[in-house]
Amino acid sequence: MKENITIKTIKERRAIRDYETSKDVPDELIYEIIEAGGYAPSAENQQPWRVIVVRDKKLQKFIGQIAVERTIELFGRATPREEIERRLSYIQAKPSLERTIDILVTGKRFEYIKGKPEDNGAPVLLVLAVDQTHVGNSQPTLRGTGGVYGWSSPRHAVIAGSMMMQNMTLAASSMGIGSCVSSVQLDHFDDVGAVSEKLGIPYPHWVPILCLTLGYPKFARTLGPPRQPPEEIAFKDKWGKPFPARRRNHE
Ligand SMILES: Cc1cc2nc3c(=O)[nH]c(=O)nc-3n(C[C@H](O)[C@H](O)[C@H](O)COP(=O)(O)O)c2cc1C
Repeated sequence: MKENITIKTIKERRAIRDYETSKDVPDELIYEIIEAGGYAPSAENQQPWRVIVVRDKKLQKFIGQIAVERTIELFGRATPREEIERRLSYIQAKPSLERTIDILVTGKRFEYIKGKPEDNGAPVLLVLAVDQTHVGNSQPTLRGTGGVYGWSSPRHAVIAGSMMMQNMTLAASSMGIGSCVSSVQLDHFDDVGAVSEKLGIPYPHWVPILCLTLGYPKFARTLGPPRQPPEEIAFKDKWGKPFPARRRNHE
C-alpha cells in the first residue's frame, strides 16, 4: 500500500530544541509557513490570528529568558524528580535521561529560544496572538457572532489559533525545518503582559498564546514521547466503551 505522505509528515514532526545556528531560515520560507498556517479552519472563517516574526536578538533573548526562569520555577522547584523521571521514561539511555533532567531543572533546555548564534539557538521565533474580544470580527469584511455568544468567541479564537499553529509546524516539518511550540513563557499572567508590551501587541484585545521557534535541526530527531494508541483514547458511542477497530494491514 502506498504511504500517505500527510500522515508520514504528521508522525515524523518532532519538537526541535537544538538548532543549526549557521543556517538561517529565509523570509520566503517563513512566508510559506505562515501562509499554510492561515489555511487552518476557524469559526466562521474569522481568522482571529496574528503572527509576529521575531528576528531581533534582543527580543528573542527577552522572551527566552522568561522561558528559562519559569522552567527553573516549574521543574527545578515545583515538580518532584520522580515525576520528571516518569515523564521522560521513554528515554532509555541513562546518560541521555540524566542530561535531559539536568537541562530541564536548570532551565537550560530553553536557552535555544534566545536565538544564541554561538550555541543551539533558533534563528526565528514566531509569536502567535489571537483576538480575544472581537465583538464583531477581526476582519472588517465579515460579521461574526462572537459578541452575541459572549465567551464562545474568545474560546474559538484560541482553538483556531492552535490549529493555525499546528499547520505551521507541519508545513515547516515538510520543508525540513524544525520547530517547537512553546507556551512556558506565556503561561503566567505577568509574562503575557510583559511580552505584549515588548512586542507592541494591543493586549488584552489581542493575546499572545504560543511561540514557535523555527530553524534547521542540529540533530536528526525521530524519537519522541510515545503516543497512546486509538484503543486507549477512543470510545464507541459512550465514554468507557471500547472502540474495537484494529490497525489496517499495510502490505
Ligand atoms: C500548547 C503546547 C504548549 C507547549 N509548550 C511547550 C513549552 O513551553 N516548552 C517546550 O519545550 N515544549 C512545549 N510544547 C511541546 C511539547 O512538549 C511537545 O510537543 C510534546 O512533548 C510532544 O513531543 P513531540 O512534539 O516531539 O512529538 C508545547 C506543545 C503544545 C501543544
